[in-house]
Amino acid sequence: MKHFLTLLDIPAKELSTLIKRAHELKTMQHNGEIFEPLKNKVMSMIFDKSSTRTRVSFETAMSQFGGHAIFLSPRDTQLGRGEPVEDSARVLSSMVDIIMIRTFSHEMVETFAANSSVPVINALTDMYHPCQLLADMQAYHEHRDSIKDNTVSWIGDGNNMCHSFINAARQFDFKLNIATPKGYEPDADIVKAAGDRIALTNIPEEAVENADFIATDVWASMGQEDEQKQREKAFANFQVTSKMMQLASKDALFTHCLPAHRGEEVAADVIDGPQSIVWDAAENRLHSQKALLEYLLTK
Ligand code: CP
Ligand code: NVA
Repeated sequence: MKHFLTLLDIPAKELSTLIKRAHELKTMQHNGEIFEPLKNKVMSMIFDKSSTRTRVSFETAMSQFGGHAIFLSPRDTQLGRGEPVEDSARVLSSMVDIIMIRTFSHEMVETFAANSSVPVINALTDMYHPCQLLADMQAYHEHRDSIKDNTVSWIGDGNNMCHSFINAARQFDFKLNIATPKGYEPDADIVKAAGDRIALTNIPEEAVENADFIATDVWASMGQEDEQKQREKAFANFQVTSKMMQLASKDALFTHCLPAHRGEEVAADVIDGPQSIVWDAAENRLHSQKALLEYLLTK
């Protein structure tokens, strides 16, 4: 039985196959082909944080695959009233075929997985967002041959998305330049484990130089709303602007996991401009997660 808590849970070769499969599933979907490999399978989706893309893509994926998804918010479950994670995992996994969790603590998801008899998917924790990286990697590969040995630039917070980009650098073998304000660097152990593929700086212009792919994210993540004002000050020089994009390779691509704040972490003419692949990446949440569900439940 396999879980997907970080990108490191799937061997690199199988991850590349999964991305190719996501593209096949996308083509099948666009052609109106009915494909129901998960008939009668049920997924439960635990959401302790808000979501548009993650909820709709997983729920749609399960329906299109012939299965069913159950949305669980903390307002309605006993887990939300303090039932132990271990007990919830044991009971839920005795009824459904796969479980997806979006929550704050990464340890909660690890504990849940350790007590679950079915696969568990991390749909975002404070530490990682691996499902988003599947969609980003799929989108990049749709526009370029391969990301191997390319240079990717992360501008902004050393947050969950940044940590998953670091893991992606290991698994897809690319160089990652990370520019954060001082005090907002990614976790030192995660950086160290990725070795010399990662370069850290506090100067965004340095990180984007000759980059093939630029990525950013909100300055204040879910759960950090109280820090918004303080973060706006700290990140003031970290907006991805068209001027910054000009320092990158001529045909560099841009992505953002969304939701975006135009005028904060990204200028409107970048996210809405010709180099942006954000809408492809957003749509790919559906297709790449279908490939993930198929991988976890049928392979
Ligand atoms: N990118 C992403 O995970 O979006 P949602 O928060 O809308 O799910
Ligand atoms: N870093 C953001 C990603 C949202 C998809 C957050 O955690 O809120």
